[in-house]
Amino acid sequence: MSSDLSLRKVHVHLGERSYYVVIGHGALSRLSDILEFEKISGPFAMITDSNVFALEVRQQLAQSSAGAPLQYYGLNDVDGERGLRVPAGEKSKTLAAAEELLSALAALTLPRSGAVVALGGGVVGDLAGFVAATYLRGVNFVQVPTTLLAMVDSSVGGKTGVNLAQGKNLVGAFHQPKLVVADLDTLETLPPREFAAGMAEVIKYGAIRDRQFFARTARGVKPQDDDLGDIVEKCVIIKAQIVGNDEFETKGERALLNFGHTIGHAIEKATGYSRYLHGEAIALGMRAAAWLSRDQAGLAQEDAREIEVALIANQLPVLLDATVDSQSILAALGNDKKVGADGESRWVLLTELGAAEGGYRIPPERVARAVEQLKIHPDDL
Ligand SMILES: NC(=O)c1ccc[n+]([C@@H]2O[C@H](COP(=O)([O-])OP(=O)(O)OC[C@H]3O[C@@H](n4cnc5c(N)ncnc54)[C@H](O)[C@@H]3O)[C@@H](O)[C@H]2O)c1
Ligand SMILES: [Zn+2]
Repeated sequence: MSSDLSLRKVHVHLGERSYYVVIGHGALSRLSDILEFEKISGPFAMITDSNVFALEVRQQLAQSSAGAPLQYYGLNDVDGERGLRVPAGEKSKTLAAAEELLSALAALTLPRSGAVVALGGGVVGDLAGFVAATYLRGVNFVQVPTTLLAMVDSSVGGKTGVNLAQGKNLVGAFHQPKLVVADLDTLETLPPREFAAGMAEVIKYGAIRDRQFFARTARGVKPQDDDLGDIVEKCVIIKAQIVGNDEFETKGERALLNFGHTIGHAIEKATGYSRYLHGEAIALGMRAAAWLSRDQAGLAQEDAREIEVALIANQLPVLLDATVDSQSILAALGNDKKVGADGESRWVLLTELGAAEGGYRIPPERVARAVEQLKIHPDDL
């Protein structure tokens, strides 16, 4: 892997809430400098999960900060190994976990001038972000994403939150970070399945915004590819543009990021959030949305097929497990969060590769057929 320490910076334009996303190999070894340069002062409370806590990257970070303007409350200070960490996985995105972390920050007397640093994937980012948004009515927040999904998606845009028994992300706050630092070296330890899941969102960005970029991802992307920095940067640029235009998802543009997510979310829900990773469910959702786009929005047949090619080239599923009950997916579609005032689902579809539009209504029987077709391999259709 490249030892080139040249870092890229993407600006997220949000007026007084603007910030930079710093991307590159070895970025974490420069975290203290970057924080100082961005005038973000401590004390810092780092929140991570049990997996990332055990990684060398976390240990390096804690060591490199010794004596620097970084103080890791709760990570190094008490008995050398105690940290503000939660068990890895979606089950930690709860109000109970948030309360525990909030209490820990209060016990550590993190002041209002301090900052919360999230080191980990989207689970840690969403949870720590919610804690940062609510502790003392809001403290500074820094995202250090360590999964591909978190780098290209969840760490940028300011959506934070936790789940309820009734559904995912039902409690939360918009709380933009002051800084995002994505060190591509951290992806070296990421399990291949998690990398592939992040690629689903990468493919999505190309599909909704940039045909040429889509074509690059359709050839397959591996963690060691030389252009990985370009790829992450491109995604962040697209997300930053969309968020910059529609921070609070009130104008329709941010909703375009939900391409593939209507059926994807329903698959996740119908399978109890355990059979598929989010990105895997989104891959299936994009395959279905590609056909719906062909039928309802004029996407060319060969372009719909290209989406399947891209998913397969990135080790993502295109075939829905035959044991999953299609009816339960359709039932889950009925209570998707993103419904119009009339209670009907609104779909984001592609008019061509690289261009998306929201607001489509689709007849229920057509949706049912799309879900059923997910059980048939592309080669057999
Ligand atoms: N806020 C947003 O805008 C937004 C957008 C998309 C997704 N999300 C949320 O993000 C979450 C999913 O994020 P995720 O896919 O990053 O999952 P995750 O945070 O659960 O991370 C996936 C797994 O990888 C491990 N891990 C993290 N970094 C690692 C590394 N460098 N090496 C080895 N293992 C590592 C984690 O411990 C975990 O087991 C969901 O809760 C979803 O709702 C939020
Ligand atoms: Zn997603």
